[in-house]
Amino acid sequence: MLDRLRELQEQALRELEQVTDKQALDQWRVTHLGKKSALNQVLRSVGQLPKEERPIVGQRGNEVKLALEAAYEQRVQVLKAQEMARALAEESVDVTLPGRPVSLGRLHPSTQALREIYAIFAAMGFQVYTAPEVETDELNFGLLNMPPHHPARDMWDTFYTTRPGVLLRTHTSPGQIRVMRERCPEPIRVILPGKCYRYEQITARSEHQFYQVEGLAVGRHITLTDLKGTMAEYARRAFGAERKMRFRGSYFPFTEPSVEVDMDCIICGGAGCRVCKYTGWLEIAGAGMVHPQVLRNGGYDPSVYSGFAFGMGVERPMMLKHNIDDIRYFYSNDIRFLQQFG
Ligand code: PHE
Repeated sequence: MLDRLRELQEQALRELEQVTDKQALDQWRVTHLGKKSALNQVLRSVGQLPKEERPIVGQRGNEVKLALEAAYEQRVQVLKAQEMARALAEESVDVTLPGRPVSLGRLHPSTQALREIYAIFAAMGFQVYTAPEVETDELNFGLLNMPPHHPARDMWDTFYTTRPGVLLRTHTSPGQIRVMRERCPEPIRVILPGKCYRYEQITARSEHQFYQVEGLAVGRHITLTDLKGTMAEYARRAFGAERKMRFRGSYFPFTEPSVEVDMDCIICGGAGCRVCKYTGWLEIAGAGMVHPQVLRNGGYDPSVYSGFAFGMGVERPMMLKHNIDDIRYFYSNDIRFLQQFG
């Protein structure tokens, strides 16, 4: 029996030498260490041996088993190392290959439009100031002369949050108060760009989120003429030097007097077309002289200081300039739309 064990061991080890891949290795383990292996049969038959042989054969059998298991483990390691060496040799990286070109992203059309606006106003001495999109009722309305229940609040359909007194700003005007409170008593010349939200039906013409750019100038001698000149200069730089302007009387609770700023239609040049609804004019901003009470709310004494403010849309003029017929393109992330704005 001991000879048989030695033979089994030698044969198994010899076969193991020949094993070169994982499959053969698994097969080897089943053959030589599995339940049906010759070795296992020997071990199971120990009980039938004469009493004095049992311990000797049993012990020897276990030794063979341990030896084969150890040899198996070692072979696993050897094969792994070989596999690794082969992979390293075959799959080497060719560092001289030219890189794959990465396609460049581009700025969103709204961002491009905003940056153009920043540049135009920067040239006129306006700094960019940003204010929060989540705003208090007090700043969005109250401090702009619209206390709770004031009917003028109807001009802005509002998204309220679950937190009382906190809403998504409906316009960039609350930023006026923030800048004034921060800068008082320094003179101010800033634009405040950013997202605004209105609880409105989404259609080709209106979105419930959109950009506005607010403008604010406060100083000792600011007049309506400064507002007119600033608006005209902006329109001419953004839409062409030949632009003509028109200022219509209007109403906002936070400006007095208030105006709507129109420029002649960039499509028909004023002759009248579908885009300008045959009026020859396009509205580009709401504006006016900062209301004395609003100046006071910002910390400025209205008997000494005056100011103008305006608020204009960003997407609408873009739509006119690029002949975009649906405002929803700006937020639908359709790559075919976005790619047209290199
Ligand atoms: N906030 C106004 C709007 O959203 C626009 C505006 C801004 C009017 C500043 C006057 C002064 O309609």
